[in-house]
Amino acid sequence: MSVIRSRLAGVGAYLPQRVVTNDDLAKIVDTSDEWIVERSGIRQRHIAADDELTSDLATRAARAAMENAGVTADDIDLIVVGTTTPDDTFPATAAKVQANLGVPGGFAFDVQAVCSGFLYALATADKFIRAGDVKTALVIGAETFSRLLDWTDRDTCVLFGDGAGAVVLRAAEGEGKNTDTGILSTHLHADGRFRDLLYVNGGPSRGQKVGFVKMEGKEVFRHAVTKLAGVVEEALAANGYTSADLDWIVPHQANRRILSSTSKKVGVGEDRIVVTLDRHANTSAASIPLALCTAVTDGRIKPGQLILLEAMGGGFTWGSALIRL
Ligand code: UT7
Repeated sequence: MSVIRSRLAGVGAYLPQRVVTNDDLAKIVDTSDEWIVERSGIRQRHIAADDELTSDLATRAARAAMENAGVTADDIDLIVVGTTTPDDTFPATAAKVQANLGVPGGFAFDVQAVCSGFLYALATADKFIRAGDVKTALVIGAETFSRLLDWTDRDTCVLFGDGAGAVVLRAAEGEGKNTDTGILSTHLHADGRFRDLLYVNGGPSRGQKVGFVKMEGKEVFRHAVTKLAGVVEEALAANGYTSADLDWIVPHQANRRILSSTSKKVGVGEDRIVVTLDRHANTSAASIPLALCTAVTDGRIKPGQLILLEAMGGGFTWGSALIRL
């Protein structure tokens, strides 16, 4: 049976120039390189310049992905940006990116699912493509997460960074089999009862302030391992695969120990997990497309391979996407 699939036609990324090391942070809060590396695996993060906005990062990543895919602004029908740190409360960052890129038509909007934001954006774009409404979509995860950090709170400020990653999706014909090229399935979840474990204590409706990130790290960690292992198994089962069939997992990059525990739970060796958090830290919605772009660009991820993206974040939200490149 002939079906429409969303094929991954190009990837792109952008990281702000300024690098902040763990030793740099040890000068402003009571922490150490040793603690941060041991507890999280993070060694450094990129932080946006004062005049650099989420839309600037997103635009640069999008341009790189468009060039990689060989598409022009005229080809883009849809732009979805996953972000928790929009430039402004409105208009959507996606609309600003549309203008920056000179995309003459189509539609553009943001989705907000924190660290799962890229997966929510990807799943949304995939649905529009599969429905036949869109031929070419730009899906971006972009954050200036540093703007939500309390730089006196060592529990949170050492964990995050800024960046953007993007993919171009194009409609392509498939046979409806698990051997097709493109997105095979996406699986999204949310459970708002866990709101208080990871949140920002501000917002337009709550006191007109942006607020700071608050997190019960240990509890989030515990939920992350269980929920991520569950969603990996869900995606594999839905497509008739087992973990042995996976070439790569490209996870959300929150904590090296979460990646190790999840990989053990699902039976995928750590040599098949893409890790960039040592250099990027947790860039929320940007972390998966940044890691994906890194591993495609350095030749680890190759055409024809089966890759699984997975993430979990505030909300809680969590999800996965199984893709054959
Ligand atoms: O992207 C969204 C999802 N987010 C996550 O998945 C994050 C999940 N959680 C984590 O990554 C980990 O829980 C953390 C890295 C945040 C913390 O690691 P932990 O092993 O759970 O440490 P902890 O919170 O239990 O803290 C252990 C100790 C505490 O001291 P006491 O109470 O034992 O004396 C903290 O006060 O480490 C202390 N601590 C620090 N010490 C030095 C907390 N932050 C720091 C720090 N530097 N930056």
